[in-house]
Amino acid sequence: MNLLVVGSGGREHALIYKLKQSPLCEEIYCAPGNGGIAQIATCVDIAADDLNGLCEFAQTHQIGLTVVGPEVPLVDGIVDLFESEGLKIFGPNKECAAFEGSKLLTKQFLMKYHIPTAHYKESSNAQDAIASLELFSYPVVVKADGLAAGKGVLICENREEAIEAIESVMVEKTLGDAGNTVVIEEFLDGVETSTLCFLDGNTLIPMSSSKDYKRIFDNDEGPNTGGMGTYSPNPFVDEKLSEKIEKKILDPILSALKQEKLNYKGVLYVGLMIVQGEPKVLEFNVRFGDPETQVLMLRLKSDLVKIMLNVTDGLLEDHDVEWEDNAAVCVVLASAGYPGKYQKGKVIKGLDKVDGTAVVFHAGTALSEEGIVTSGGRVLNICASGSDLEEARLNAYAAVGKVNFDGIYYRSDIARIYEKTK
Ligand code: AMP
Ligand code: GLY
Repeated sequence: MNLLVVGSGGREHALIYKLKQSPLCEEIYCAPGNGGIAQIATCVDIAADDLNGLCEFAQTHQIGLTVVGPEVPLVDGIVDLFESEGLKIFGPNKECAAFEGSKLLTKQFLMKYHIPTAHYKESSNAQDAIASLELFSYPVVVKADGLAAGKGVLICENREEAIEAIESVMVEKTLGDAGNTVVIEEFLDGVETSTLCFLDGNTLIPMSSSKDYKRIFDNDEGPNTGGMGTYSPNPFVDEKLSEKIEKKILDPILSALKQEKLNYKGVLYVGLMIVQGEPKVLEFNVRFGDPETQVLMLRLKSDLVKIMLNVTDGLLEDHDVEWEDNAAVCVVLASAGYPGKYQKGKVIKGLDKVDGTAVVFHAGTALSEEGIVTSGGRVLNICASGSDLEEARLNAYAAVGKVNFDGIYYRSDIARIYEKTK
């Protein structure tokens, strides 16, 4: 069958890498793709938010399954549009995708069904938001309600910082309409882990655990980014904790979705903070995580096309999703200045020196006359597997050392987990 993947990052590159391993996959297209994806798929120049353009392409190219990477087309209702045209598509419909479009909606859903999460208070004007700071201690978390490309969460150490955050989001509108409403939230101190789940409307199957590094600098310092590295599995999530997450978080989410008559299909990314052994939900994303997907796709044993078809058809079963008994690590190579301003167009050298022990997924690259050049803040994802996390980490960093471009920046502590488990 012909497949279409929507998106242009390392997540989409990793999905295509895995989808292509399926005997069910014939032609594979990516809209719009990037310099690395172009080496393994046919890139088509349609933006990820051009829903009509994508739908027309799927119709004219006999696409048997479309897979959506980013949140924006999902929140805009790409699944509803494709389904109304009789096209098969992997992802939640607009009603379900609204969880990522509004942090407040997620909080209300979690509270209604008594699913553990941080205490919060919402406000739709700055004065009210500042007044509600009295209800919290510090640090406190200020979240823009709407979509903010990973920049909508501000952790504030004191009242001055919190007021500054509220004013920048609500008055100066630094995140546009995403900041019309804010959620002020209790800061949860603990160990973070992500549980991505496949859902077919009726069955929920958690994927293997993974851990993202959100901050830009080593030792988790500096501002939040889209993610600077990942590893899987997360050894902190042992069997006992996995069971607790299923019982206290995932089972209640599935039954709440059913009670709300939400026919959730696709991936639900449940971000968790483990506070003194107890899991609490930080956020929902309605899609695969980036860069969590990069390590998960290195470890997924099963046929991804088959899983996705079973999800869309409502036929998902436990044995559909199996994992290699190994570990994988992803190190993100970024452009100097990210997550702030950065330069583009820098020639990337050394990709040909990376041998088979690592896999390079492209995040922000483009093809130019000079070869592959940087075209984004997060540029490359250097990923490797190993029999355990330490071997995977060494393999990944060995490959990192071979690649270079002007202004290259990466964290040196990805998967040095012994420093972080508490
Ligand atoms: P979110 O988009 O809600 O996941 O937030 C992005 C990141 O901010 C999370 O992955 C956490 O690292 C951090 N974060 C969000 N909410 C909280 C909270 N209540 N307490 C501590 N950290 C948080
Ligand atoms: N890595 C976090 C995310 O995909 O939202």
